[in-house]
Order: sequence, then structure tokens, then C-alpha cells
Amino acid sequence: MSKNEIKVAVVGLGNCASSLVQGLYYYRNSKKEKFVPGLMHVNFGGYYIEDIKIVAAFDVNKNKIGKDVGEAIYASPNNTAIFAKVPKMGVKVQRGPLLDGVNKYTADVVPVDTKQKAVDVVKALKDSGAEIVINYLPVGSQQATEFYAQCAIDAGCGFVNCIPVFIASDAKWAKKFKDAGLPVIGDDIKAQVGATITHRALVNLFLDRGMKIERTYQLNTGGNTDFLNMLERERLASKKISKTESVKSMIEARGQTIEDDNIHIGPSDYVPWQKDNKLCFIRIESKHFGDVPMYLDLRLSVEDSPNSAGVAIDSIRCMKLALNNGLKGPIIEPAAFFQKRPPKQFDDRVAKQMVEDYIDKYKLVTK
Ligand SMILES: NC(=O)c1ccc[n+]([C@@H]2O[C@H](COP(=O)([O-])OP(=O)(O)OC[C@H]3O[C@@H](n4cnc5c(N)ncnc54)[C@H](O)[C@@H]3O)[C@@H](O)[C@H]2O)c1
Repeated sequence: MSKNEIKVAVVGLGNCASSLVQGLYYYRNSKKEKFVPGLMHVNFGGYYIEDIKIVAAFDVNKNKIGKDVGEAIYASPNNTAIFAKVPKMGVKVQRGPLLDGVNKYTADVVPVDTKQKAVDVVKALKDSGAEIVINYLPVGSQQATEFYAQCAIDAGCGFVNCIPVFIASDAKWAKKFKDAGLPVIGDDIKAQVGATITHRALVNLFLDRGMKIERTYQLNTGGNTDFLNMLERERLASKKISKTESVKSMIEARGQTIEDDNIHIGPSDYVPWQKDNKLCFIRIESKHFGDVPMYLDLRLSVEDSPNSAGVAIDSIRCMKLALNNGLKGPIIEPAAFFQKRPPKQFDDRVAKQMVEDYIDKYKLVTK
């Protein structure tokens, strides 16, 4: 057992949680490694991957409830890449309240036993000794996310919000965490090299080279439950804001303007055979010297869920440093680098340095 244990509860044992749990096992001897792809540092402020321990998990899918986390991460409809065969972990998935977690598109593939009662989540968190709750609910789970955020507060846990329901970036929820003396990191995790960060890097390149960005889009397709769920356009309002702001804020920070009609960013369709492979199409229309037009088209193909697992591991370790140091409310530095919709947007290079400084300031001091 690690002496620096970080006890984590997972909400929503879907593809992202599967990649996270597989990664914790795959890299359990990371102390010996110099480099682990997807992590900022192997030794992150004194913490290693092996220190992270899943102590509780909540879901509503009959295929997952009652199973050991090590089994449930492979249960249907999860369909992400299997890169590690995780053994039983001695932690069973518990039934959380359904609320708005399942919609008319996902209902067919996420079987919910409506007769089974939800557990007392606050009690379950306290009994497990969890210090951190990580939220992986489907997009649009406003009520369910607020429910678990409140449970985290009531159980005295920090909250890492990987989804585009606004908690850390919402003034009311930020205050709730601050008043409770607890930290929150969010919202909407940024993948290692995914659509958002690639789009931001390209926009930065154009701006650095003195180009005027006239129009841009980012279209995404995938075949996982995340994309199936997002067929319900009404659930997408915050996702669209989160993804669009992430790029638009950069253009505006550099003194350019772009009309709403000239920037379109969002998930676009569900293609079942793609499974957890996400395709992203980015186009930037610009003008260079002499007002001569130029166009850039990019196609990115990436396995969606492992792409954010390393970022989640670093976010969890930032959260542990926050808890150790009594930080409360939204934690700005890790949110700026690791999340699409942080309370405050920064240039990615600035945000990275902010996290380095954060680690340096709050790192574990070993005697
Ligand atoms: N893949 C990435 O890199 C990435 C990046 C940014 C954001 N996200 C977000 O992370 C979230 C999770 O993604 P995913 O691919 O794992 O989705 P998923 O659909 O595979 O997993 C969601 C899980 O939540 C469970 N669930 C539904 N309602 C619940 C409730 N009320 N209580 C407990 N569990 C409930 C589902 O049964 C499922 O197991 C999504 O919101 C996604 O948009 C992912």
C-alpha cells in the first residue's frame, strides 16, 4: 500500500472511467519510469500514479451495479480500447440516483433497474474514506452533476468535474465549495491532444503569424455513448459554450473579433462503427498578405477516452495538493490548463507554467 494514498470516488463508470482505471493499473509501477505519455510529470508534486486508489464508484447501469470496478469497466455499452486487463479491485459499483443521467437515445443501451433504490451517496462516500470525487456523467446531466457536487460537499470531498455542466465556473457553485472550505477543479476536461487543444494551437499559430481568422469550424463524430447521448441537441447547450469559448476566447484575447455565425464548434454526429474512435474535422479560413485567402483543413483521428485519462490523473494529483494545503473554491491554475471551461481562460503556454508554479508551491514536502 502506498503511504501517500489519494482516495478517489468515480461517478459514472463509462469509457472515460474505464481508461482511467486501466491506466492506473497499466502504469502502477510508474515510479520506475522516466516518462509516461499523457502526464505532465511522473512525479507530480510528490505523488505517483500508484498513489491513486479508487475507493468508491457510482453508476445506474444494471450491467455495472454490484460488479467489482475491475469488471464493470469492461461492461456494455463501454467500447473503448482495452490496453490493460485490470483484476478485481475489491470495490463494488453502487447504484446512484438516476435523475437526468440517461436520455431517450441512451436508454436503449443503458439498462436501468428502476425498482432498485439508490444508495445514500454521502454515507457511501464517507464510509469509503474518499477525499476526491471525479465526475464522468453524460453531457447534459445538470441535475445529476449538481446532486453529486452537493454530495461531495456534504462528505467533505474535493470535486474534479470532467464534464460541461458548469460547477467550478459557476459563481453559485464556486461559492458553495469555498464556503465549505473545499476545492473544485473544472469544468469539462481537455484531452491530451484532442480537438480543442489542436484547434487552439492552430488558431494560436495563425495569430502568431499575423493572420486574420475569418471563419472556423470544428466538427466531431464518434460511436461511443457520449456521442449517442449528444444526439439530443437540447443537452448540448453547455458543451457548445464550453468548446466554442475555449477557441473564441483566444481569438478575442489577441484583439481580433469573430462573429458568432463565423465560428461553429460542436459534436456533430453518432457513427456506431467508430466506437470510441473520434474523428475531428477542423477548417480555418483566413487571409494573409495582400488580403489573399488561405484555407486549412485538418482531420484528426483519436481514441477518445484514453486521450483524457492522463489529464484526469494530473487533475486528481493537483486536487490532492489543494486538499493538503487547505485551498478552497475553484482552483484556477489546473483548471486553466486541464479544463476547457475554467473559471478564467489563459493561453495554454501561460497555463502550463501556472501549473508548474502551482506544483512547486504546493508540492509534498518529505521529511
Ligand atoms: N473523452 C474525453 O476525452 C472527454 C473530454 C471532455 C469531456 N468528456 C466528458 O466526460 C463524460 C464521460 O464520458 P464517457 O465517454 O465516459 O461517457 P459514458 O457515456 O461512457 O459514461 C457515462 C457513465 O455515466 C453513467 N451514468 C448515467 N447516469 C448516471 C447517474 N445518474 N449516476 C451515476 N452514473 C450515471 C452511465 O451509465 C455511464 O456508465 C462525458 O460527459 C464526456 O463528454 C470526455
